[in-house]
Amino acid sequence: MTLADEARRVAAEFEYSKDDVNKAVKEFIREMDEGLTKDGTELSQIPTYVTAVPNGTEKGLYMAVDLGGTNFRVCSIQLHGNTTFSLTQSKVAIPKELMVAKTAKELFAFLAKQIEKFLQTHHAEHYQGFVRRRKTISNDEGFREEEVFNLGFTFSFPVNQIGINKGLLMRWTKGFDINDAIGKDVCALLQDEIDALHLPVRVAALVNDTVGTLMARSYTSPGKKGTLLGAIFGTGTNGAYVEKLSKVTKLAASSSAADASTTNTTGNMIVNTEWGSFDNTLKVLPNTPYDAALDADSNNPGIQMFEKRVSGMFLGEILRRALVALLNNPAVPLFADDTSAANELHSTTNVDESSPLFTRWGLDSSFLSTAHGDASLGLRMTRQALDRDLAVSAASEEDAAAVKLIAAAIGRRAARLAAVAIAAVVLNTGALDAAAAAAATGPPTTTTTTTTTTTTTSQEEEAGDEIDVGVDGSLVEFYPGFEEYIREAFREIDGIGAAGERRIRIGIAKDGSGVGAALIALVAGQVAGGEEGE
Ligand code: GLC
Repeated sequence: MTLADEARRVAAEFEYSKDDVNKAVKEFIREMDEGLTKDGTELSQIPTYVTAVPNGTEKGLYMAVDLGGTNFRVCSIQLHGNTTFSLTQSKVAIPKELMVAKTAKELFAFLAKQIEKFLQTHHAEHYQGFVRRRKTISNDEGFREEEVFNLGFTFSFPVNQIGINKGLLMRWTKGFDINDAIGKDVCALLQDEIDALHLPVRVAALVNDTVGTLMARSYTSPGKKGTLLGAIFGTGTNGAYVEKLSKVTKLAASSSAADASTTNTTGNMIVNTEWGSFDNTLKVLPNTPYDAALDADSNNPGIQMFEKRVSGMFLGEILRRALVALLNNPAVPLFADDTSAANELHSTTNVDESSPLFTRWGLDSSFLSTAHGDASLGLRMTRQALDRDLAVSAASEEDAAAVKLIAAAIGRRAARLAAVAIAAVVLNTGALDAAAAAAATGPPTTTTTTTTTTTTTSQEEEAGDEIDVGVDGSLVEFYPGFEEYIREAFREIDGIGAAGERRIRIGIAKDGSGVGAALIALVAGQVAGGEEGE
């Protein structure tokens, strides 16, 4: 048995056929519909209280913070009102111990502290003036409403949203696990810590990163009907899309929903699918031994099963487990000098016993991007990465080829699963039909403005029959060929096919969640301004 044969065998375990993809799309559509009717379903289908996407004319200075899976970002955003914006931001890695802190307060106090630092650094005048007045003005509040920054809080975890700036944490995902926060209003948790530091900041809107991405993409690429879907393929994966309010029947049951429908003039509601938990019961998802072991060892077994096969936090771990399985099989000559062809370093291939290969989460998903995209002579880049990142010294070209093949299979499977989610949203919203109808009647008159400056996207044709999808996250940005694999799967999907695939436009909304949160804070700020004391 050669190493190449073994690598091919393992790679084949990650195949996800055309038939599998089509079955999964059907199940995804079923779960989407089910999630709109009641709570407690696999796809949570959370109404976000955001009812419209922007058109690029919005203006003003806003703040946004973004608690993602890995980093915390604080930004201020000047929306220029012509589809462009300027953004100032700072980013810190979230300390691992805070991700699993005993109390929510520990995490949120840290976040508020970062906001304070940001204001001191980037908005010193505003901040100092405010603090000065606070000290001299005797009223309780100590500030004037107009001095307060409206802040959009991007919180990239499942939240049962009960108002534009109110939402109860349903469960943690990705690496977070702070039991004390479950069921609490995350906006209030943040506002309390902001108030403790006397900062001129009001948490005006709670936003999932996917919703932010959808908003940002719609702001920066105007001149068409608006974006249908915002999706993240990063540390985690999820999507939010524009749904008809009338289909969100579970809303009718709740009273806050009644408000949403009376103030809703668009007839739409942006819905956060939380598709990371698609098919937790594994009806249609693939399940290799590596997937099963990863899940069993995770801090949330049995949930986020789709995310565990698709997103950046997990792909490296799947590869690690596949490689360790090969290493543990004495019949397989992986990283074994004797059967490797001569390697030009003339030293013995060795896997150090302290290699991160032997530690859970030891292999970063960026390694997959390197291996998969490696076109260097003799796969030198992969061999260097094996040495540098995994303490595998003097790996041979055969070793690197095996690693590359398996990494590519894992990445391709992830992209095909990503295609399932996107395709299901496109098909279930009837967007392809609607786009065709729009094309037949010509572009709407509002699209005739030929705005020349867009910030994050360019060279995109102005056409009436395209469906726009905004994406963000390390995988779509850095994983070689991720979009092309998605497109390959689209062409195999019933109801999309080659013609439909061409009409789906996928564009990066880089750092979209910050801008998107600002845009929602803007709308929320306007509403709050008119409803003070509510
Ligand atoms: C996880 C979170 C979800 C978020 C996604 C991307 O799936 O549950 O809310 O949108 O990660 O960051």
